[in-house]
Amino acid sequence: MRIDKLLTTMGLATRSETSKAVRKGQVKVNGCVISKSDHKVDPEKDTIEYMGKPVLYMKNIYIMLNKPSGIVSSTDGKDGVTVISLLPDELQKCGLFPCGRLDKDTLGFLLLTNDGSTAHYLLSPKRHVSKVYYVKTQSPVSDSDIKMLENGVTLDHGDVALPAKVEKVCDTELKITIVEGMYHQIKRMLEAVNNKVIYLERIEFGTLPLDTSLKRGEWRYLTEQEIDVLMKQTK
Ligand code: URA
Repeated sequence: MRIDKLLTTMGLATRSETSKAVRKGQVKVNGCVISKSDHKVDPEKDTIEYMGKPVLYMKNIYIMLNKPSGIVSSTDGKDGVTVISLLPDELQKCGLFPCGRLDKDTLGFLLLTNDGSTAHYLLSPKRHVSKVYYVKTQSPVSDSDIKMLENGVTLDHGDVALPAKVEKVCDTELKITIVEGMYHQIKRMLEAVNNKVIYLERIEFGTLPLDTSLKRGEWRYLTEQEIDVLMKQTK
């Protein structure tokens, strides 16, 4: 693979930034400064350094995004500004897509990846990958409502939600853990107990907590340990 392609794929530099860095002697392969930005590398074997930092090659990209409200969880901009548009230009060309969807007005942890098979496993209803939501409701939630949610409520259109874990933060705030991802699930669960969601934020995905140092609209790569945690759930 060409070094400029590799750095672009990893979202580290555009082609022109790579050429500039190469001209300034800031790109090394196996300890040697390279002179051409089309220099061929084997990312699995070669040691690559860009601007003094080692490049850890990732065939697949996994990104934690703290989704703001008003942005759509899709790759296609026909319904508004997409989560992909929050990434730098280089990363917008890497075939990333959201692993599952959050509604336009839902905030919080959205995993973006270009790894279709892992996304498929993480989203499969059979895997029971957990998601935790912080929910504010219009009216107080009673203990009997909580029991109903914990037992699994029947939603509109007859879908039945699996039992959820519900933690009461206060009368109108809950943390709800679900292991499936039906359309508008949390909103429909609260509707099933005659309530309404007025704020919804995903604070955990697949047991990974949202990194609270990320401001709304900010993102970061998952660490290797975080990727391992996700991968274990696909086995
Ligand atoms: N449940 C919802 O109702 N909306 C979301 O965005 C996620 C879960």
